[in-house]
This record gives sequence, structure tokens and C-alpha cells, in this order.
Amino acid sequence: MSKKKILIVGGTGYLGQHLLQSYYSNQSLTVAFTYHSSPLLQPLLDAFPDSQSFQVDLKSGIGFDAISNAFGQPDVVVNCAAISVPRACENDPDTANAINVPSSLVKWLQSFKQNSTLLIHLSTDQVYEGEKSFYKEEDIPIPVNVYGKTKVAAEKFISENFPNFAILRSSIIYGPQTVSPVPKSLPIQWIDSALSKREKVNFFHDEFRCPIFVKDLVTIILALTSQWLSEGKQMQLLLNAGGPDRVSRVEMADAVAQFRGYDTSLIKAVSASTVDRGVKSPADISMDITRLVQTLNINPVSFKDGVKLTLTTEAQQ
Ligand SMILES: NC(=O)c1ccc[n+]([C@@H]2O[C@H](COP(=O)([O-])OP(=O)(O)OC[C@H]3O[C@@H](n4cnc5c(N)ncnc54)[C@H](OP(=O)(O)O)[C@@H]3O)[C@@H](O)[C@H]2O)c1
Repeated sequence: MSKKKILIVGGTGYLGQHLLQSYYSNQSLTVAFTYHSSPLLQPLLDAFPDSQSFQVDLKSGIGFDAISNAFGQPDVVVNCAAISVPRACENDPDTANAINVPSSLVKWLQSFKQNSTLLIHLSTDQVYEGEKSFYKEEDIPIPVNVYGKTKVAAEKFISENFPNFAILRSSIIYGPQTVSPVPKSLPIQWIDSALSKREKVNFFHDEFRCPIFVKDLVTIILALTSQWLSEGKQMQLLLNAGGPDRVSRVEMADAVAQFRGYDTSLIKAVSASTVDRGVKSPADISMDITRLVQTLNINPVSFKDGVKLTLTTEAQQ
């Protein structure tokens, strides 16, 4: 039997690399990934020597033809590529829109004669307004910033133009560093490093999220992949993808401090309204993950356990 083909769009990013690692270890799959910035970093080439990589620009669609020629039609595409920093989206809305709404990717997938690809797309909790707790998938998205608006537009574009998809509205993704370290700061490592200096650090007490451990998000994506590959039943799924705990930034810092044994009086609780981050940030976008748990029978780890897993894995790397 021929191997099934997986394509990770944005394989060089934080989630993309974690996914690449998991797919790569499955002998029944052939894995390819895309990158955007050149050149491709050596640690990635060393870690995944057998996987094909393609330079693709989602804005122009340049690069997809080369994938058709060298790799062929994928059975599953996971789109992890985005301008994922809200402030960057706010500063350049046109570019954010052109990249975050994956119209070039969808058009490329439409060009294949067979309808045999599942598209798994990463969206965000920032589609929600942030005015109540535990949003459900059926709540109307009211994004408050450009990043959220581009993600809502992406969800709409995919659901109107592609028949077989799963959209994951992810909360903050946290976990260990990647094979080839990503340039942005990672949330748990940032808190750990800030508190390790033994100086007081400000954390918001009034911004709530349901952070998800990266390996749980990978498990969710692998479950969707194997469901499609084994059953071949098209899906139109929209899932909140968060952890089970609604936490403020203060509570996130507290979990790190407890694990490390830092003095918790270093954590200074302040209101998010005291800081201008150059972009509006929704206050409470905690999510109800009942649909995720019931659909895939996956129970993401608690935030406390995820912190422990993150920092113990980091220590071993
Ligand atoms: N990280 C989080 O906490 C979080 C939370 C909620 C939702 N999400 C969503 O989850 C997904 C993955 O997030 P992440 O943190 O792993 O992202 P990331 O680390 O910022 O990676 C972004 C990826 O997009 C690629 N990319 C950027 N511009 C591109 C372009 N013009 N054409 C093609 N590819 C381009 C980058 O390629 P190069 O590296 O080669 O430039 C990189 O592989 C994103 O959709 C993000 O919005 C993330």
C-alpha cells in the first residue's frame, strides 16, 4: 500500500515543528512541509532528513506548483502558517489578511481533480469578543483586533470554498522549545526567565485564556488525520482547542512559580488596561471545550501539569 501524504504548511513555526516531529515518526506516512523565510535552518534539515521541503508564499501562492510536481496531492494538509503576532497584524492589515486567509492554498487544493484532501486549519480564540467566559463554537465571533478579523475571514473562506475541513480555534499554545528554536518568546519560558531574576514582574489579573499544551494540540491533529485516513468520511468541523483551565496571566505565573519554587510575591497583579500593547486584546476568551472532548475523546492536560511537562522537557533538551 502506498504511503499517505501529509503536508504541513508553515512547518518551520512553533506548532509546525512539533507536528513535523510527530508525523515524521510514523512510518506509514510521507511528510512534506513548507517554509517561507529562506534559507531553511540547518537543525530542521538535520532532524528531518527524509522529508521534502518547499518554499511557499501564501500571499502570492508561489511555490504550490512545485509541490504538485514533486510531491503530488496531499491526503492531509495542516495549515499552521500565519502572521500569528497580533501587533504585527495591526501594523500591516493588508499583509496579515493576504497571509492569514489562505485563499492561495485553497485554490491550489481545488486544482486537483480528486476531492481527497482533508484541510486542517489553525484558527484562534481571538475570534471571540472577550466579554464573557467559556465561549462555545456557536457563539457569534466578534473579533476586536485585525488578527482576529483575519482569522474569522479565513474560517469563512474555507467553509465556503472547501468541502472537507477541520478548523481548530486554538488558545495560547505552550510547551517545550522546537528542534530549530523559533524567534518569538514562548510563554512558559518567558515567565520562568522573568521570575528567575528574583525581581517583581507585572502580570495581568484580568485577561483570561485556556492555554493548550502543544502536544495535546498535536494529538488532536493526529486524531483528525487518522479519522480521515481510516474512514474517508468528509468533515466540516469547527472545534475550540484549548486546555481545561481558564487562567489569568497571574495564575499562569503562579503555576510556574509553584513548580520552580520561586517566591510568589514577585508576581505583581496589574490590570491589562495599564499597558498599551499597540493592539486591542480581548479580556476573557476562555473557551468551552466540550465539543472537542466529545468528538475526539481527547482530554487535554491541566495547565499545572502542562507547565510541569514543559519545564521538565526543557531541562532534558
Ligand atoms: N502560538 C500560539 O500561541 C497560537 C495561539 C492561537 C492560534 N495560533 C495559530 O496557530 C497557528 C500556528 O501558530 P505558531 O505559533 O506555530 O506560528 P508561528 O510560529 O508564528 O509560525 C508561522 C509560520 O508561518 C509561516 N509564514 C509566515 N509568513 C508566510 C507566508 N507569507 N507564506 C507562507 N508561510 C508563511 C512561517 O514560515 P517561516 O518561519 O519560514 O517564515 C512559519 O512557518 C497559526 O495559524 C496561529 O495563528 C497560535
